Amino acid sequence: MKRKGGQKEKLKVGVLVSGNGSNLQAIIDAIERGEISNAEIAIVLSDNPEAFALERAKKHGIPAEVIKREDYPDKAAHNLALAASLKKHGVKLVCLAGYMRIVSAELLNQFPNSVMNIHPALLPSFPGLHAQKQAFEHGVKISGCTVHFADPQVDAGPIIIQAAVPVHSGDTEKTLADRILVEEHKCYPLAIKWFAEGRLSVVGRNVVLEGGEPEHFAVRNP
Ligand code: GRF
Repeated sequence: MKRKGGQKEKLKVGVLVSGNGSNLQAIIDAIERGEISNAEIAIVLSDNPEAFALERAKKHGIPAEVIKREDYPDKAAHNLALAASLKKHGVKLVCLAGYMRIVSAELLNQFPNSVMNIHPALLPSFPGLHAQKQAFEHGVKISGCTVHFADPQVDAGPIIIQAAVPVHSGDTEKTLADRILVEEHKCYPLAIKWFAEGRLSVVGRNVVLEGGEPEHFAVRNP
């Protein structure tokens, strides 16, 4: 799944969203600041017409489409429609960024090792919904976020990058979620940058980063 560096054409990224889109914003900002120089967002797809993420895309002149689950007879047909739109826009990397549905094989098979997801916990702990709440209620002292390649099992694919944050005694679920989100906004652009540079290889369950392991690849010092 390596992309060779030095290609002139920018990697086309498709971002799937359902809500606020702060991770989408972090990716847009990293591209606009030139931190990711060889990728562009070709399309933003939302299953939710009310998603604020759509406004963010519009503001930055990025094409956006709503593809509602209700408009399709089943999950497979919905995923085929999403994949068709992504292909139509030349997408080579799909980023799930607060997309609140499980992506099925109908989409995943069309983008092998090229669908990323961000999860607000240190996987494999606390997969699934409300990860920050799960971690908070479990009483962990460290939590964080994970960017990983998506596979048919939920929140289980090969891990690209993780960042850790401390859980303080005065925390609420919200303060912990906010602290994790700060790290999400650093990790997702970095993972996309590495992918665009052709530096990521999947070897079994391991994602290997060519050329070293920068700070975010390891647990951060709380
Ligand atoms: C993030 O915490 C992400 O990890 C989770 O959903 C949240 C989405 O936030 N999957 P946003 O829409 O990117 O602001």
